[in-house]
Amino acid sequence: MEKYKISMKKKRIHTTLSEEAYRILQKFEGEAGGKNAVLEKALHNLDKTRYKAKISLRSFISTIRRIESGTPGFDNLIEGGIPEGSVVVITGPPGTGKTTFSLQFLKRGAELKEKGLYFSFEEDAEQLVQQCFRFGWNLSKYVEDGIIEIFGFSLLTSEEIADILESYNPKRVVFDSINIFSNMQDFRKSSSWRAVLKTLKKNKITSFMITEKQYGLEAKRFDNFDFMGDGLVFMDRVVSEKEDIFLIAVKKMRGTKIDGRPKLFRFSEKGIEVSDISPIGFTIFKVG
Ligand SMILES: Nc1ncnc2c1ncn2[C@@H]1O[C@H](COP(=O)(O)OP(=O)(O)O)[C@@H](O)[C@H]1O
Ligand SMILES: [Mg+2]
Repeated sequence: MEKYKISMKKKRIHTTLSEEAYRILQKFEGEAGGKNAVLEKALHNLDKTRYKAKISLRSFISTIRRIESGTPGFDNLIEGGIPEGSVVVITGPPGTGKTTFSLQFLKRGAELKEKGLYFSFEEDAEQLVQQCFRFGWNLSKYVEDGIIEIFGFSLLTSEEIADILESYNPKRVVFDSINIFSNMQDFRKSSSWRAVLKTLKKNKITSFMITEKQYGLEAKRFDNFDFMGDGLVFMDRVVSEKEDIFLIAVKKMRGTKIDGRPKLFRFSEKGIEVSDISPIGFTIFKVG
């Protein structure tokens, strides 16, 4: 009876420790031949942080929400959609469909009543809307309804962009394109840009950052912009004798099992559609 009491008491003292920590403590105290409050406290704190990490990981996995890209066939490559709040870099040489792909992303959002913003350096609003008419999307209707807004990126400072994000409160945002910041290292570190990123993350806004490349997939090269996002999508076009081949490859998508092989895509009368065909001869390369 006495023995039982002691073991109960001992157990009660250490109930807050994990089994592993308790084993370490027992071993140490056994060897040292006495109690060690310092070690017990240290193990206790270690357990607490571990427990915390486990909890946040679990809640992260269970609450991961995926956003439809709006491009048929694309979401099959990324477990059904883009993790909400991701910054996705869309890159490739000029004329490879990056702008179209991004407009399609906003259009899908508008259909789902999710507000979208388009910050454009390259084209003016009218040109963008016209581009959409080609595919039978009436973007101007969404602009009139205020569900999509188009801004001339070049006229805005990062502070103003952060303000717009706060006041408009969109679900989806596109920056087309950000190569205008010539020095990527400075750009990544700049406090004003960090403020934009912070706002995107805080408000769980899913964003596309378009960057231009002077080389295609075959170069197997990366630039500094490629590493700034949670995701990286490479778009390319291969000129052949008969017709041009368009390719899209997911290089990275945080929290997602990706099919990273380049896939053929085409421009249909409705926009871009991604096939499940990976042409041979295009090797896979990955980014961390
Ligand atoms: N219906 C279509 N059929 C084939 N190619 C098209 C069609 N519509 C647009 N394109 C091609 O798509 C490219 C423009 O797409 P865009 O999204 O503006 O590319 P990026 O933003 O990468 O420069 C052009 O090269 C154009 O030839
Ligand atoms: Mg473009």
